[in-house]
Amino acid sequence: MTKQTHILVTGATGELGRLVIKHLLQRSNTTTSHIIAGVRDLNIDVAKSLAQSGAELRVADYDKPETLDAAFTGVDKVLLISSNIMGDRRVQQHINAINAAKRAGVKLLAYTSILKADTTHMKLANDHRQTEKAIMDSGVPFVIFRNGWYTENYFGSLASTVEHGVQLGSSWEGRISAAPRSEYADAAAVVLLSTENQQGRIYELAGDEAFTLSEYAAELSRQSGKPVVYKNLAESEYKATLVGFGLPEPVAAILADSDAQASKGALFNDSRQISALIGHPTTPLAKVLPNVLAH
Ligand SMILES: NC(=O)c1ccc[n+]([C@@H]2O[C@H](COP(=O)([O-])OP(=O)(O)OC[C@H]3O[C@@H](n4cnc5c(N)ncnc54)[C@H](OP(=O)(O)O)[C@@H]3O)[C@@H](O)[C@H]2O)c1
Repeated sequence: MTKQTHILVTGATGELGRLVIKHLLQRSNTTTSHIIAGVRDLNIDVAKSLAQSGAELRVADYDKPETLDAAFTGVDKVLLISSNIMGDRRVQQHINAINAAKRAGVKLLAYTSILKADTTHMKLANDHRQTEKAIMDSGVPFVIFRNGWYTENYFGSLASTVEHGVQLGSSWEGRISAAPRSEYADAAAVVLLSTENQQGRIYELAGDEAFTLSEYAAELSRQSGKPVVYKNLAESEYKATLVGFGLPEPVAAILADSDAQASKGALFNDSRQISALIGHPTTPLAKVLPNVLAH
């Protein structure tokens, strides 16, 4: 009888985690794979729906190493989805998961990092760089997904962008190789289910087609039928504007820095590694927008 490969995804109730579980279940069969959703709370609706879809639920809280030890028991492959807080605490959370993976003898630890983590000057990359180093130093076999921007990053502000007719940013004509979150998730699922040796591989994951924020505004204008222009601000001005919109200062600083770094190419990548993994082109912005504008 074939031994099932046990694959656990942490942060499985998050936006990306849910999609990775969905793609893992779609792409695998129960004879060869057993899919486990690592969650903080077994009783929330998202967790229950993951269980209904066929995943086993286990509690895996980065702040509670004992839960990670229990969750990783008997698991062959773990996808550590980066935590959604920033700074030293986040790095410690990831180290807790890396140490637990080592104690459990996990055969492959995958991690969702950031595009060009080793060379980028983006401040957001600091935690990811430290985490990658901790993974590499741990001796646990690893694979890294250096993820570019999700296309969805722009949709939280889309309604007000259309209403006011202005997209703000600091990325000048920097090109952004975004792809829908679901396609990053599918690429991760492909690698996790692969029977090829993935150990030591580093994937730079990004969309096939890049856009500038001027092109984004023009496409939004074309599809919404309302005039939308891109207005570039100096990084400090953009940060102050975001604070004025109610964002906490550290978050505004990180977002403005990310945008300013995008002007220098930090979010551009033309290696098309997502599409190579998932077997079809990534969905371009123009094809994603109609659905978003309809809601
Ligand atoms: N590439 C990009 O454009 C981009 C954009 C945004 C974020 N990110 C990064 O990618 C990650 C995944 O993206 P996402 O869209 O799925 O974000 P998300 O929806 O915010 O999901 C983050 C996940 O982290 C989990 N988490 C937080 N603290 C935890 C802890 N102490 N123990 C265990 N799990 C914990 C959350 O658990 P709960 O569900 O219990 O809250 C959630 O499931 C983010 O966390 C962030 O690091 C990337």
